[in-house]
Amino acid sequence: MKEKLEQLKDKAISAIKEADSLGLLEKVELQYFGRKGGILNSILKALKDLSGEDKKEIGQLANKIKFDLLNLIEEKRKELSSKKIDQALEKDDIDITMPGKKKELGSLNPNTIVQNELEDIFRSLGFMILDGPELESDYYNFEALNIPEHHPARDMQDTFYIKGKEGSKRLLRTHTSPVQIRAMQKYGAPIRAVAPGRVFRYEALDASHENNFYQLEGLMIDKDISIVNLIAVMKTLLKGIFKKDVKVRLRPGYFPFVEPGFELDIHCLICNGKGCSVCKQTGWLELLPCGMVHPNVLRAGNIDPEKYSGFAFGLGLTRLVMMRYGINDIRLINSGDLRFLKQF
Ligand code: DAH
Repeated sequence: MKEKLEQLKDKAISAIKEADSLGLLEKVELQYFGRKGGILNSILKALKDLSGEDKKEIGQLANKIKFDLLNLIEEKRKELSSKKIDQALEKDDIDITMPGKKKELGSLNPNTIVQNELEDIFRSLGFMILDGPELESDYYNFEALNIPEHHPARDMQDTFYIKGKEGSKRLLRTHTSPVQIRAMQKYGAPIRAVAPGRVFRYEALDASHENNFYQLEGLMIDKDISIVNLIAVMKTLLKGIFKKDVKVRLRPGYFPFVEPGFELDIHCLICNGKGCSVCKQTGWLELLPCGMVHPNVLRAGNIDPEKYSGFAFGLGLTRLVMMRYGINDIRLINSGDLRFLKQF
């Protein structure tokens, strides 16, 4: 009986070793350990017919063999499983280089892209980047900027008025210029600051008019600041944006908060000054209203006009964005239309 068991063990071991697939290994396992007709199981069952001593000895041996063989089968199973994965990889059934599912990333609005670039340029020139309230007081939006109540300049900047408590008048700011006064009052002179932001006008909408658009206000005040400084900063700004030297010209322009005031035009970059539909055949594009800060405005900002002088400008940010990307309808910018926004 003992001998028979040892022979069986050797046979089983070689069968397990020879099995070269998980399917074959399972067959071997069933052959020896199957509930019905499994060779080892039937031997163990037959033990009960043996006499006392034999029963114990053979029983122990048979159990040990069973234990060893089951361990062996388990090891072989692990080996064959990992081989199966290796083979699948080799056969390219599993492609571990396949890219994952891409998450869709949003993009920045073109207004934000240009604003970020402008902020970088001005930061490099030592300017602070400031913010101001969109709901502004009549005082900051007009009065302090040398535009008293019945001044005709108010007609050109109609806006939305909001009734506040106890007759206080609030309005949606028509330009970023009120930040000039707030900045002077808060930081005093000398000062270099820009304030990008949203402004509002009561407008009939069309391809070039929006009731919501963006400006970037600039202010530089120090001792002995002149128009020369103004032109130098404007040229640096334009070179930063258009990545090349841009020809500029100054024309007189009227704004109550500067004296003298200018319209700064740039040589049309589309036609190189020859004349095209964008520059209305003039070769020049109106881009930057600017000027030397009016003494009344300095006073409103608690700065002594006898000691300090400075310049200010109001860049049409939305306008610049349209020129830079060739956008022919201003309404697209705030439309939220993904077909438009995905291009940036
Ligand atoms: N605030 C003016 C506007 O919206 C633009 C402007 C003109 C701003 C001249 C300035 C400036 O700072 O100096 O029409």
